[in-house]
Amino acid sequence: MSLDLAPFKRLIRQRCGLVFEGVGERRLATVLSERMGSSDAQHYLVQLEADTDEFGKVVNQLTINETYFFREMEQFDLLTDVLVPRLMSRRPPGVPIRILSAGCSSGEEPYSIAMALFDRFGENTLQRFKIVAGDIDSTVIARAREARYSEFSFRSVGQGLRSRYFRVEHNAHVLTDAVRNAVEFHELNLLHPAFAPTMPAFDIVFMRNVSIYFDVPIRLEIQRNLAAMMSGDGYLVTGMTETLANDLGVFSLVEDGGLYYFCRQAPQPAPMSRASIRSATPDHPAHRALTKSQPPSHRLHGEPAAKTHRPVPGAAVPTLSLVSPVAPARLPTLEEARALVHDERYDDASPLVQKLLSAQPHNNDARLLQAYIHLNRRNFELALDGCSDVLAADAWSVDALFVMGLAEKWREQSAAAIAWFKKAAYLHQQCWPAHFYLAGLYSAQGDHAAAGRAHRVVLRLLAGVPDPGIRVVPVGLRPAEVRFLCERRLNVVPTPMPMGGS
Ligand SMILES: C[S@@+](CC[C@H](N)C(=O)[O-])C[C@H]1O[C@@H](n2cnc3c(N)ncnc32)[C@H](O)[C@@H]1O
Repeated sequence: MSLDLAPFKRLIRQRCGLVFEGVGERRLATVLSERMGSSDAQHYLVQLEADTDEFGKVVNQLTINETYFFREMEQFDLLTDVLVPRLMSRRPPGVPIRILSAGCSSGEEPYSIAMALFDRFGENTLQRFKIVAGDIDSTVIARAREARYSEFSFRSVGQGLRSRYFRVEHNAHVLTDAVRNAVEFHELNLLHPAFAPTMPAFDIVFMRNVSIYFDVPIRLEIQRNLAAMMSGDGYLVTGMTETLANDLGVFSLVEDGGLYYFCRQAPQPAPMSRASIRSATPDHPAHRALTKSQPPSHRLHGEPAAKTHRPVPGAAVPTLSLVSPVAPARLPTLEEARALVHDERYDDASPLVQKLLSAQPHNNDARLLQAYIHLNRRNFELALDGCSDVLAADAWSVDALFVMGLAEKWREQSAAAIAWFKKAAYLHQQCWPAHFYLAGLYSAQGDHAAAGRAHRVVLRLLAGVPDPGIRVVPVGLRPAEVRFLCERRLNVVPTPMPMGGS
């Protein structure tokens, strides 16, 4: 008999906000079945309601903890270049600026905050800032306190940062004590934040890639909780794809130099913009309010600004919203967005995809289209991030593996590209585009035997009516041309020479 998930879903949503649909529902069913063992569902539900330890264990297995250092790097520049200087100019000397990383997972985010501040303020960081981090998952908090990381956490940072802040011990990268001691970790349920009354207010909250697991009423409740934990002029930073989904009227949305963040209060008339902040001194003319007539200084990765502008009384900075109580915009369909992407009209497709993701943050197809748009704008990190998120929810996504392969290939990371294309081809053996790219990569490495094998696989597949398994993003290759290329390349593959000479 199949398990009735409804009462479990209700309990989990009510206690910690997590919502499970589609693929998530399957994960929930697996976790519950494992934990309840041979006991019946009714009995286990009663146990779960009463036993907070058991409930915690279930939640720990359900959370998605994907994270890495300096994820969405631009937001760390926003922190150090804009938000912190602004707050410093408003706070009396000696009063530390308080930062919360909410949903911090295994610590990469709060430690990135600390490292960005150390880079900018040196040893003074410890006096000038108080960094607190929290997550509902007790296992990740324990890992964060240990501050030992594998290669996987460093996918978007260079060697310099590693050598400044980490030492290698038994294949793990161990964070230096100064940074480690700069962050205080707590178990924290954002829906029922127990530490709120005792903690002084936070000036900046990072809550990134967390709200995607909640529905709108839960997001609203969590935002109200956050607002109650923040100083009156504080800032909230959400993940870049979550921005519009979090524009719920609790905080004011601000666009500054192509980046979005939220203000606890309606923004005041004289904030420094990202573009002006580097050149401006306090008396410099560049240090003045953005007005509605001034366009944003630049747009992040060519993303168009959101369309609907909702004026806030007295606010000089444009606030943006797609949540209009008067005339809600029609939600585009995935097919419309997909057609634009297939026509390579990325500028037109991007706002549609954003809208879709605002309304349906878990929509993997929309995430794939967004990743593909990032790829074509050569924003490889964002494309890879997007695909990682898709794979975290659906490990069988051939599209995501294929786009990962393309991103790594285009940024000339051949080994990584080969690994992703191999996975795609392994998962879906008829995926001839993956075999074709593998052939090219092997050939470029001088492995003509492997290249020949891969070319022959492509020809064999194209002789039938192959299903490449790529459902959402464009394949970008014409079978007839690929067949022609493979035939030609097979004719010119040199006979392998002894000693691997060319
Ligand atoms: C995908 S991770 C994001 C980590 C990090 N913020 C980042 O952007 O890289 C989401 C985290 O949110 C946490 N989370 C989910 N629901 C939560 C809740 N109600 N309260 C606190 N944390 C929660 C999960 O345990 C998980 O570690």
